[in-house]
Formats: sequence, structure tokens, C-alpha cells
Amino acid sequence: MNTIITGASSGIGRALVSTFAREGHAVLAVARRAERLQELSQDLAEKHNAVVTPLPLDITAPGAPQDVFKEAIGLFGKVQVLINNAGMSPYQEFTEMDLSILRQVIGLNVLALTELCYLFIPHMLDHGEPSHVVNVGSVGGYTPLPYFSIYSGSKHYVRVLTNLLRYENKGSNVKISALHPGGTLTEFPTLAGERLKPSAMKGMMTPEAVAEIAYPAILKGKRVIIPGVVNKVAVLIGKVLPFPLSIRVMAFVYNRSIEKVAHNYPA
Ligand SMILES: NC(=O)c1ccc[n+]([C@@H]2O[C@H](COP(=O)([O-])OP(=O)(O)OC[C@H]3O[C@@H](n4cnc5c(N)ncnc54)[C@H](OP(=O)(O)O)[C@@H]3O)[C@@H](O)[C@H]2O)c1
Repeated sequence: MNTIITGASSGIGRALVSTFAREGHAVLAVARRAERLQELSQDLAEKHNAVVTPLPLDITAPGAPQDVFKEAIGLFGKVQVLINNAGMSPYQEFTEMDLSILRQVIGLNVLALTELCYLFIPHMLDHGEPSHVVNVGSVGGYTPLPYFSIYSGSKHYVRVLTNLLRYENKGSNVKISALHPGGTLTEFPTLAGERLKPSAMKGMMTPEAVAEIAYPAILKGKRVIIPGVVNKVAVLIGKVLPFPLSIRVMAFVYNRSIEKVAHNYPA
């Protein structure tokens, strides 16, 4: 299946590229750091004879989702898998956030993801072959996380949007899934300004483990994919507790496991 994965230069996206490429899918790997994508492409070609095409692009730039679409159609003709994985956010008080960072979070987590769905779902419906759209949310899309107000809001949006797009396309050739990871050992915590305390490490997953769980679930067209027991419990908390209580529980858990330090996103 011809596959597009955003956020392919690091973490969960990089692991998904490796898994899909290893399993024989042709991948268009999208992220800003060209050299990272190039190295990944070469590595997977040598190890698995895989075809991974780098597309270095800031997908929050005006017109960038259309550029992804044009590149993908030019390269593949038909696309069967879109994984909207790229996401970011500082771990910070709302009022202290730089306005340009606030716009990046919404631009990446909400707007770019939505525009890519908007471009690729009709294309998949048109060609009629079995296809998959996967939006990467977060456990934070169930449990509201203090100091992640916009992030958590954006991931609630991803969860709702994905469910509704799935409903609107039910019975079609396009299966729409949400992958909701929890704490994963990627660049995200350091970029966000989260210093993990030793107690946090117990619940963390590797991006490779997330990708290995996600891959068969995506191809089965599962509606929701939540990797790992700890994350399933966190989601349950978000489902059963009223918001104010859920926020308190998450604040308690976060305070015990994570120290808030300066984030590392350039403004
Ligand atoms: N790690 C966690 O604990 C965790 C928990 C729950 C959910 N998630 C979600 O999982 C997804 C993947 O996160 P991760 O943990 O793997 O993070 P990560 O290691 O920081 O990777 C983020 C990826 O997004 C790319 N990216 C960032 N801004 C971009 C932009 N403007 N245009 C194109 N690509 C961009 C980055 O590449 P470049 O810098 O090269 O552009 C990188 O490849 C995100 O949606 C995140 O919210 C992560």
C-alpha cells in the first residue's frame, strides 16, 4: 500500500515508517529535517530493500498540505494509507506561551491534520481501493492534562474529528482510525519541557513498541488504538470521571512523575 506518514524524522512517526517499510509498503516520509529522512530512507533500503521517499516540508506552512498531496499523487498515482502523526506542544501555562508557539501547536495538531484528511479522503473514495486514514491523538484526548491546555484541546479535537469522519465514511473503502499513545520515549518530552522523574519511566513505551501494536490494528481498520495497559487505564479515567475530577487526578499523577522545565521549541 502506498503510505504517507507525517512526523517521520523522529519518535513514533519514524518507527511507523520503519514498520510499514519493512512490511513492504512504499512510504512517503514527511518532516522538516531532510537529513534525518534521507538517513532513514538509506537505512531501510539497505536493511529491507524498502522504498522510502523523503519529503522535507513544514506542513504548517501555507499550502503545504496541498504540496504533500501533489507530491504523493506524482509519486504514487494512488495513495492507500495516510498517517497524520506529526504533533507538538510545550508543557507550559497557557498565559506564558509564546503566541507563535500557540499558533504552531494548532497549525500542526489541528489544521494540517484536518487539511490532509480533507485532501486524501476524497482521493481514496475515488480510487475505491481498501484504504486507511490514521490520526494520531493522545491519551490527553481523553484526560485533560494541566499545562497542556491547547495540546489536550487539540487532541480532544482529533478524537472527535476522527470518530465523526469514520461515521461519515462507514461502509466505504476508507477505514478511519485513531491511534492514542501515552508517554512514549521520543523527542517529544524534551522538546515540550518535561523532565521525567524515575517514577515516570515505568509507564513509558518505546516508539517501536507503539508502532508494532499499531501496524496490525491499522490494517484491521480498528476505530481506536490505545497501546499499552497504562494508557488504557488513563483513558478509562478520562471516560468515567467528570472533567474537574479527571483534571485533579491527572495533575496529581503528572506532578509525581514529571517536572516542568523550559521547552525547546524555537519561537
Ligand atoms: N511522546 C509522547 O509521549 C506522546 C504521547 C501522546 C501522544 N503523542 C503524539 O504522538 C505523535 C508523535 O509524537 P512523538 O512523540 O513521536 O514526537 P517527536 O519525536 O517530537 O516527533 C514529532 C515529529 O513531528 C515532526 N514535525 C514537527 N513539526 C512539524 C512540522 N511543522 N512539519 C512537519 N513535521 C513536523 C518532527 O520532525 P521535524 O522536526 O523534522 O519536522 C518529528 O518527526 C504526536 O502527534 C504526539 O502528539 C506523543
